[in-house]
Amino acid sequence: MMPKIEPIYLKDYKKPDFEIKKIDLTFDLYEECTIVTNVMQIKKVADTNDIVLDTLDLELQELWLNDLKLNDTRYIITDEKLTILNVPKEFNLKIINKIYPQNNTELEGLYKSGSIFCTQNEPEGFRRITPYLDRPDVMSIFTTTVIADKSKYPILLSNGNKHQCHDFLNGRHGTTWIDPHPKPAYLFALVAGDLGSITDEFTTVTGEDIELNIYCDKGNEDRCHHAMKSLKEAMLWDEEVYGREYDLEIYNIVAVDSFNMGAMENKGLNIFNSHYVLADEDTATDANFMGIQAVIAHEYFHNWTGNRITCRDWFQLTLKEGLTVFRDQCFSADLNSKEVQRIEDVKTLRERQFVEDASPTSHPIQPKSYISMNNFYTATVYEKGAEVIRMIYTLLGKEKFRDATDLYFKSFDGQAVTTSDFLWAMSEASGIDLKQFESGWYNKKGTPILNVEQSFKDGTFTLKFIQEDDFYFPLKVGLIDADGREIVDEVLIIDAKEKTFVYENLSTMPIASINRDFSAPIILKESEKDFAFLMKYDTNSFNKYEATQNFAMQTLQDMINGLEIDEKFIDAYGYLLDLEIDNSYKALLLELPSVSAIMQTQKVVDFEIIYDAKERLAKHIASTYEEKLMGIYNSLDDLSIPNRAMKNRALRILSPLESDMVINLAKEQYKTSKTMTQRVVALDVLENISTYDAKDELEDFYNRYKTDTLVMNKYFAILASSDAKDVLKKVIKLQDDKVYDEKVPNLVRSLIGSFARNYKYFHAKDGSGYKFVADKIIAIDAINAQMASGLAGAFKVYDKMNEVNKSLMKKELQKILDTDGLSKNCFEIVGKILG
Ligand code: BES
Ligand code: ZN
Repeated sequence: MMPKIEPIYLKDYKKPDFEIKKIDLTFDLYEECTIVTNVMQIKKVADTNDIVLDTLDLELQELWLNDLKLNDTRYIITDEKLTILNVPKEFNLKIINKIYPQNNTELEGLYKSGSIFCTQNEPEGFRRITPYLDRPDVMSIFTTTVIADKSKYPILLSNGNKHQCHDFLNGRHGTTWIDPHPKPAYLFALVAGDLGSITDEFTTVTGEDIELNIYCDKGNEDRCHHAMKSLKEAMLWDEEVYGREYDLEIYNIVAVDSFNMGAMENKGLNIFNSHYVLADEDTATDANFMGIQAVIAHEYFHNWTGNRITCRDWFQLTLKEGLTVFRDQCFSADLNSKEVQRIEDVKTLRERQFVEDASPTSHPIQPKSYISMNNFYTATVYEKGAEVIRMIYTLLGKEKFRDATDLYFKSFDGQAVTTSDFLWAMSEASGIDLKQFESGWYNKKGTPILNVEQSFKDGTFTLKFIQEDDFYFPLKVGLIDADGREIVDEVLIIDAKEKTFVYENLSTMPIASINRDFSAPIILKESEKDFAFLMKYDTNSFNKYEATQNFAMQTLQDMINGLEIDEKFIDAYGYLLDLEIDNSYKALLLELPSVSAIMQTQKVVDFEIIYDAKERLAKHIASTYEEKLMGIYNSLDDLSIPNRAMKNRALRILSPLESDMVINLAKEQYKTSKTMTQRVVALDVLENISTYDAKDELEDFYNRYKTDTLVMNKYFAILASSDAKDVLKKVIKLQDDKVYDEKVPNLVRSLIGSFARNYKYFHAKDGSGYKFVADKIIAIDAINAQMASGLAGAFKVYDKMNEVNKSLMKKELQKILDTDGLSKNCFEIVGKILG
């Protein structure tokens, strides 16, 4: 089947012709198939004869309109539609159809993860379950009955509150769930399995007792406690910060191993990739623990920003995702370290979104067209979307922002709305006109560039900002005088192509610290600047980090241009080593720019040159500060997150020395580590030291964790991301490992995905990396299109590559595009990259 390549356009949006007031679903789950009975109360709201329902490869058993069984003269079935002709104004429709969850490798709709039945319906999975008006502006009240063998599937879950349970004589049982809140079909969920669980309780601000359950594979219950703690933290935070209370008697979370994404906010029944639920010190890193806290909160926060108020159509995705990412970022900042959180969030934005925005797949946070909606769960919609909400927060200030979100919830509760509705509430409650803001940030693609010109004359300092477009944004600026004292810290409003700000009566020329806290997601272009000064004196923790990164970047660029290493940078780096500051923050300050960040500063990209410069600089730093770093390493225990972060940073900075000393340090750390955080860093360092063969440690790790796929993901990722020789050969061989399974997205991401992000080998000049990944994309596309198009993202840098790499890439991309039966997901991404 050729993919349907008709794009869908935002401008073509039309209201639905029908309302579905109620839907009653019954699932009869068997090993060979599942029978779905779907009874809907439907009302016509437009002048039309026929109802056109979304479906996919429908296997229809029976179709009833009120009490009349319809024969095939009354309806038309195509691959993607079920049309029922001449329907009355109000009617009941009963559809009985058959599906095969056990053969569903796309992991959309109803499928099996191991022996667990589960669902994933966002954005358009529900139509794979039963014919429906599968669009987010059709909201209905769902009642769901799940029936299955009682011994194999003792736990039967769906959305809402538990209504009743029945036992049948044949060893089967059923549970009925009622969700009183109208919702779109993408929030529908069902789970059936023999699951373990932990349970707890949360009392809301108005005194309602909520039952909290987390379900997982039996035996993993003890690894769910951090997730439960995070859930309760999120529930409290949303009450305190946004005044949002939970609205059902029960909140269920289920962890499954086969899941395309991270997690899903189905009403009252979140389904999670087990990666974002299960954790204990022996198997999860500190970063894993933080990730769980953030994702549990994110999905919980969707209950208001996404579920109670949902999207009118999928072009509005950032309405719920940008806002909810902003909310989870603030939550993490409040519960952990604000300064570290901001830096991490900006790092992610630059590494993923800036790259996307500079590529052929660039799009506004509100896209205007798509072929496959699955391709638009992007860093732009999410991370840039969150930055856009953050700018609104900065423009309004904390109090007015709260007034504005209160107004948003009050005005649109129970509705499916647009980003303009959201901006209306922001504007209405604050009195700030956001029209110019909307036209730039919601409708234009690409990262705005802001040029800065500075001058100082007769005690007057002039800051002039010039942009090509006319984006409206807040710009936090600080001025620091020659003695290192801060004399200004304020938010400027940029609302024109050129803006000038003047500061008078100054005795010396100040140093400007611009875009503090990364108040706007832009690229700053400044002339030569005293980065070392800002590294010392900037009081803004984010801009202190920026100064370090910029100085490192400038040093690397000089090296790429053939100059010697700038010793001033090396001195400034040494100054950072001596700072007595929070160790997590310090560990970030000391991290050199990533290969991806360096890549973005190049006109034409050649990864060999980038690696060479970065490796030389890293070696020089290591040998210059060997003693100091050893001192830091030895002075720190590994009992706290910050200490582990700094200790591991010291080890990583030392590792380019590749000396016996470093090898012994890492070996010792591997052997004695009590946490996964210490163990994986040691293993990774050893694997990447070219003078050492880490086979003993790798074998030890493998044997210790081979029955734990979550940990095995780390093992595959370390090997596939390695700098060592023959990585591609090893990756090819690892595909035959007993633990590896091409049908499980986490494993594909950790082995193939990590390799595709291993720039050194993916971009190998013999084309072997491209060929391997392209062949994998083609093979995996036949199993799971969403996973395949995700992998295709690795080719996004195509445009900027040097001629040698580019022509090698082109051949492989063309091969993908020429594949018979290619999914529309891959067709859209690869087609865009090739132009
Ligand atoms: N609604 C999404 C899940 C989703 C993603 C559904 C893609 C359909 C397609 C969920 O709220 C989400 O955003 N999950 C993220 C994690 C989150 C913390 C950013 C994910 O799955 O990566
Ligand atoms: Zn989300």
